Amino acid sequence: MRPIALSPRLLALARQVPQGVRFADVGTDHARLPVWLLEQGVIDHAIATDLREGPLEQARETARRHGLSGRISFRRGNGLAPLGPEEADLCAIAGMGGETIAAILAAAPWAAKGRTRFLLQPMTSAQDLRGWLWRNGFHIESEALSREGEALYVSLTVSPGSMRPLSPTEEWAGRQFRGMGAPLRGLYLERLITRVQGALEGLRRSTRPEDLWRLSEQEALAQGLEEMKKEWDAWQR
Ligand SMILES: C[S@@+](CC[C@H](N)C(=O)[O-])C[C@H]1O[C@@H](n2cnc3c(N)ncnc32)[C@H](O)[C@@H]1O
Repeated sequence: MRPIALSPRLLALARQVPQGVRFADVGTDHARLPVWLLEQGVIDHAIATDLREGPLEQARETARRHGLSGRISFRRGNGLAPLGPEEADLCAIAGMGGETIAAILAAAPWAAKGRTRFLLQPMTSAQDLRGWLWRNGFHIESEALSREGEALYVSLTVSPGSMRPLSPTEEWAGRQFRGMGAPLRGLYLERLITRVQGALEGLRRSTRPEDLWRLSEQEALAQGLEEMKKEWDAWQR
């Protein structure tokens, strides 16, 4: 059996797992991530959980095929419920919406107090997840972008603790700093600007009174993102 291959999205996530950590993958589905980490010798053992029996059975099957059944503990359950507070040093929650990831963290009060760090990869609503994290006792340590086809994915490394509040623009795009190695960030900012401009066009045509308030909010966001992009471009020269 050849070692498992990861898509660019999952590979970007895997590359952020430090050597030798006690690793858990919540919402593991086919268990590709823990199997890759075990085969590459990054980790010695993993906990793989899923809400549903079907994906968990797929995960067991992947481990069986790769001869790793004895090194993965499979657990069925909602979010962090199958995990003990000190059982993992790093816990991945990937491939779900940002709101679902926030709900999973919110349902486990130990998550904001313990020593477990989290590797989060929201498929949607990254802005809601960032906003929720800084308001609820989590510190976003770093962000990484990956590209698969036309799609861009963001992954956040997060630990319990406070952080300087994010501005609304930073909630959308993440915090940037000079010298941060992020080759896809220019494209990421461009995509966000296009998306917000599209929403603005709709709001400008709208006659609903409640959209008037949303219009000024989105205009401020568009301006904030444009300024961020200008700053980013200036740093690249
Ligand atoms: C799209 S798959 C993502 C698989 C893998 N993590 C990835 O990033 O490729 C989402 C998986 O999360 C599981 N899931 C959804 N909500 C969950 C929850 N609240 N707790 C645990 N697993 C959940 C689903 O059953 C599914 O197997």
